[in-house]
Amino acid sequence: MNSSSFTVGVFDSGVGGLSVLQALLAEMPQAHFVYLADGAHAPYGERSAEQVAERAHRITRRLRETFHIDALVVACNTATALAIEGLREQHLGWPIVGVEPALKPAAALTHTGHVGVIGTRGTVESARVARLRDRLQSEARTPLHFSLQACDGLADAIERDDQPAIRALSQRYIGALLSQTSTLAPMDTLVLGCTHYPFASEILQALCGPNVTMVETGAPVARRTRQVLEALPRPETRPVVVPGVTLLSTGDPEPLARAAQRWLGLKIPGQHLAC
Ligand code: DGL
Repeated sequence: MNSSSFTVGVFDSGVGGLSVLQALLAEMPQAHFVYLADGAHAPYGERSAEQVAERAHRITRRLRETFHIDALVVACNTATALAIEGLREQHLGWPIVGVEPALKPAAALTHTGHVGVIGTRGTVESARVARLRDRLQSEARTPLHFSLQACDGLADAIERDDQPAIRALSQRYIGALLSQTSTLAPMDTLVLGCTHYPFASEILQALCGPNVTMVETGAPVARRTRQVLEALPRPETRPVVVPGVTLLSTGDPEPLARAAQRWLGLKIPGQHLAC
């Protein structure tokens, strides 16, 4: 089935998931995307696993009931790490695609064997990421080391478009990662393990220097979403889907609409959704 005839829900704590939406729009320009920023509860990164899971469940139910979405993309590493297993259990057999820090692609890319991973505290301290790291390290044929760095406050600074804070926090966290290279091989690959971080990629790249390759997950997640949709059973009739994007926020929709215009060139109003 052609992925163009689908309505896809996409959610994040805020504007970060727009980096995934950008890749989804490039992959499936004829689909309709309902993007929800959980602005009233952002940031997720320093919340408890229970709180993030509760939000993920509530949002998924709401998007299914109100917008009749055909699939959901959890465009948030933190919510994927803390809630996706529970979501899949609750919505058995229904398509849910998550976003995971790109440790596997980074392991294939690194020459020095030293990969930095930046993400929210919720993500880098999650059991899911620890399992992935341990598996890849034990399977590697040459020495492989992942340095995980929690970046408290960075997603929030990007959310507020606070450039001085983005610079100061990036400097602190990238500095911490680079200082470890005295005991390890130089870090040559950096995983952006939070969907907000691609919007600070210029600053992060400048701090890391030209020898570090940054890896993010938007494009592979978009490809996976298309494959999942195209594998769905073909129903007898389908409602007509108008291509485009609906922008919703549980908080103030204005910053979301501004970010979508600035980063994706989308000139559409944001709407408030109580959820
Ligand atoms: N963008 C999200 C992520 O990928 C969450 C950031 C946050 O709300 O702390 O983890």
